[in-house]
Amino acid sequence: MSDTYEKSLCLSQRLEADIQARPEQHCLLTGDRPTGRLHVGHYFGSLLNRVRLARLGVKTYIVIADYQVLTDHDAFSEISQNTKQLVIEYLAAGLVPGDNCVIFPHSYIPELNQLMLPFLTLVTSAELNRNPTVKEEIAAAGLQSVNAGMYTYPVHQACDILFCKGDVVPVGKDQLPHLEMTRLIARRFNEKFSPQSPVFPEPFALLSQSPVILGLDGSQKMSKSRNNAIFLSATEDETAGLIKKAKTDADRNITWDPANRPEVANLLLLVSLSTGETPERIADRIADKGAGALKAVLTEALNEKLRPLRTERARLEKESAYIRQVLRDGVDRARAAAVATLTEVRRAMNMEI
Ligand code: TRP
Repeated sequence: MSDTYEKSLCLSQRLEADIQARPEQHCLLTGDRPTGRLHVGHYFGSLLNRVRLARLGVKTYIVIADYQVLTDHDAFSEISQNTKQLVIEYLAAGLVPGDNCVIFPHSYIPELNQLMLPFLTLVTSAELNRNPTVKEEIAAAGLQSVNAGMYTYPVHQACDILFCKGDVVPVGKDQLPHLEMTRLIARRFNEKFSPQSPVFPEPFALLSQSPVILGLDGSQKMSKSRNNAIFLSATEDETAGLIKKAKTDADRNITWDPANRPEVANLLLLVSLSTGETPERIADRIADKGAGALKAVLTEALNEKLRPLRTERARLEKESAYIRQVLRDGVDRARAAAVATLTEVRRAMNMEI
C-alpha cells in the first residue's frame, strides 16, 4: 500500500506540473457527499485547492454525491438541505459557477447513472470485496448487513469521474482505491469495446499537498462524526470557544514538534495555513507564553482568514433562488457532457438503434 502511495504521490506531482503548464488540457472532477456542513479541515485540505485549480483555468466539475449518502446512512431527510449548503460553501470559498465550473448532484444526471450498468460488468465481485476503504467504512459504521450499493459505490464513482472524461481527481489518500477502480474500468472498457480509439482517459489522483488537519482533540483527523471540527458556518465566538477547549500538552514552552507534540503542532499548522507564516516562526514567537497564547493567536488568525468566506456564506444563505439556479445550470451542463459520452459508449458497445 505505501509503495502504491509513493507511486501515486510521484504521479500526482508530475500531474501538478503539467496542469501548471497546460491547464486547459485537463478536466478535473471531484466531489463530496452531502452529509453535513464543511469544516476547516475541508477548507484547507481541499476547498482552497479546488479554487486554485479552477482559477488556473482547469475545467472543473464538482459532483455532489447524493446517491452515495444512501450507501451507509439511514438518514436521508437532510440530503436536499445539505446539497444547498455545500453549494453555498463552494461559492463562499471562491468557486465561480459557469461553463468552467460545473456544480451538480449526480442523481440528476440519468446518462451518468446509466454508465453504471456496463461498468458493473467490467469488475468482479472479488475486486469489489477487496476495496480497503469500503471495508473500513463498513467497520466504522458498524453495519450488520451491507447493501449492494455500498459494495458498488466505487463503480458509481467511476461513472462520476468518467461521464465527463475527467482526468484529474483531487482526493485524499483514502480515495486512492476508488481511483484505481476507475482506472481499471476505463482501461477495461477501452480494451474491450474500443481498442482502436479509447473512449475514456485513465484519470490520475491529485493528492492534497497540505498535511492532514487533526481535530481539536488532536488525536484524529478533523471530522464531523468525531465531534472535533470547526465548521465554516461557526461564528467567531463559537470558533473562539472551540479553540479554547482544544487539547494541548503539559509543556508550557511552545515548539514545532509534530512527531512528539501532535496537538500543539496541529494548532500551529492551522495558524500557519491562516497567515502564511511558517509554523517554526510562529512557535518561536509564542515560546514560553504557553498554550493560552497560542490559542489566542489561532483564534485571531483563523477568524480573520475565514471572515470573507463567512460574510459571503451568510449573504448566500438568503439567496435560495440563486443557489437553486446554480444547481439547475450545473445539471444542464453536466447533462450535456453525459449525453455526449453515453452516445459514444453506445456506439462502442454496438447498441445503437
Ligand atoms: N467518495 C467521495 C467521499 O466520500 C465523494 C465522491 C463521490 C467523489 N464521487 C466522487 C470524490 C468522484 C471524487 C470523485 O468523499
